[in-house]
Amino acid sequence: NKGHYEHYMQKEIHEQPESLTTTMRGRLIRGGSSKSKSVLLGGLKDHLKTIRRSRRIVFIGCGTSYNAALAARPIFEELSGIPVTMEIASDLLDREGPIYREDTAVFVSQSGETADTLLALQYALENGALCVGVTNTASSAIARNTHCGVHINAGAEIGVASTKAYTSQIVVMAMLSLAIGGDTISTKARREAIIDGLYDLPNKVREVLELDQEMKDLANLLIAEQSLLVFGRGYNYATALEGALKVKEVALMHSEGILAGEMKHGPLALVDESLPIVVIATRDACFSKQQSVIQQLHARRGRLIVLCSEGDAASVCPGKSCRTIEVPQVEDCLQPVINVVPLQLLAYHLTVLRGFNVDQPRNLAKSVTTQ
Ligand code: F6R
Repeated sequence: NKGHYEHYMQKEIHEQPESLTTTMRGRLIRGGSSKSKSVLLGGLKDHLKTIRRSRRIVFIGCGTSYNAALAARPIFEELSGIPVTMEIASDLLDREGPIYREDTAVFVSQSGETADTLLALQYALENGALCVGVTNTASSAIARNTHCGVHINAGAEIGVASTKAYTSQIVVMAMLSLAIGGDTISTKARREAIIDGLYDLPNKVREVLELDQEMKDLANLLIAEQSLLVFGRGYNYATALEGALKVKEVALMHSEGILAGEMKHGPLALVDESLPIVVIATRDACFSKQQSVIQQLHARRGRLIVLCSEGDAASVCPGKSCRTIEVPQVEDCLQPVINVVPLQLLAYHLTVLRGFNVDQPRNLAKSVTTQ
């Protein structure tokens, strides 16, 4: 049921304040003033000790689910102190890459039925790793065959392009990193700030959804473009990949997410006065590096669209040369949840304006059950 929306993708983008609330329900604990704040993930509690002792955490997924894991990687490394590596399921299988008994392998999949991810799970089980599932379908093969897991509880996702599952996956993995990190004194303030940020996140997502009309206007400007680049780094490298994936798969426009730190190692050659480029430059530890990226793209006369924190629009653009999209600022590790929303909206409006099928992009299936 699409309610008053025209498409499922549109409905699912707009219901993210609610889906995120359901994802977190009953899982965040804020005791009285003396009690510290914590996270409770029922499906994991018997395995947390084993996960904390693992030598490595390996995130495994495909497409958007892989991107969600990539977005959570920095906070996982920070809070757990355990090295985190990333695997695209098909690539792990192609290489028969090493997986050990001392590894914790986290399988991220909305459907829980993706063939490559399921085969990678069988491979990791054979190699003796502890296998954790992060899925949106409790009865799915990945949920059933992992040792333990967390249900993301985002509600059924119908649009082929994953939107609300992506933000719920990031939130679940942020909660997972809090649960694994444990309650050491040195990280207490940071953990509590993240938990407060999680409580407030649905409200901030509601705010960022107000950019709908602005993103429709931007889509109108970009309607006839051949290509769109998206530059991000740090917490928002994944946002760049995910924003580009959305534009590519539903709006059928070539788009590439680029790690800003790699700019000078090739992508800079593409920049001229005609190619539109989105630069994600919200406030975090990478902000000044992104400012310098903006300067350099500007020097090559790039057509810039800068996604920045509220209040920064006037200062991020050299000589008011670019368009800006201002978003509310949240705790740095949760910012990817906010930043992806305008890009989801952009992809949605571009698709409608270009006259393509929003909910069933050509050649794609919701659940990829063949290799
Ligand atoms: C993109 C998209 C796909 C899926 C991928 C994995 O919008 O939906 O990239 O994310 O096919 O699917 P799941 O998460 O079901 O394993």
